[in-house]
Amino acid sequence: MDKKLHSALNEQIKNELYSAYLYLSMASWFESVNLEGFAHWMKVQAKEEEKHAMKIFDFLNDRGVKVVLQAIAQPPVDFSSAKEIFEQSLGHEKKVTAMINKLYDLSLDVGDHASRVFLHWFINEQVEEEKSPSKILETLRAIKGEGAALIMLDRELAKREG
Ligand code: FEO
Repeated sequence: MDKKLHSALNEQIKNELYSAYLYLSMASWFESVNLEGFAHWMKVQAKEEEKHAMKIFDFLNDRGVKVVLQAIAQPPVDFSSAKEIFEQSLGHEKKVTAMINKLYDLSLDVGDHASRVFLHWFINEQVEEEKSPSKILETLRAIKGEGAALIMLDRELAKREG
């Protein structure tokens, strides 16, 4: 595999694990304010991110190139509201989409068709990854992020399946 592509895919494992860390930190904040449904939603999201990281981990190994795990930065720990958290989630997912698009461009540049096809899954997945926080954010804006409607939304998010 081309060295630059190998290194970029390897780095994306760290980026996906950072996403898991970020969502787990958000889950922790929701736990601290007794919004257990939101916390559950974030914990399920963190697991999804681990799966994304493992997909790349397995792909690199299948291609016979070594995975070198990198340090994961500390995520933010202080948040002010559910609305702020979902704004940050959406912003984060947009950044991840840009990363995936760059990886795709690189796979085209170096003519690595197996990587290009592998990345199709991630391109499709990012549509969902942006849609989910965006929908929740719309609801949070509509209910002004407080009151009985917030508790109702918390109950709704508790139903997310892993
Ligand atoms: Fe792995 Fe949320 O993107």
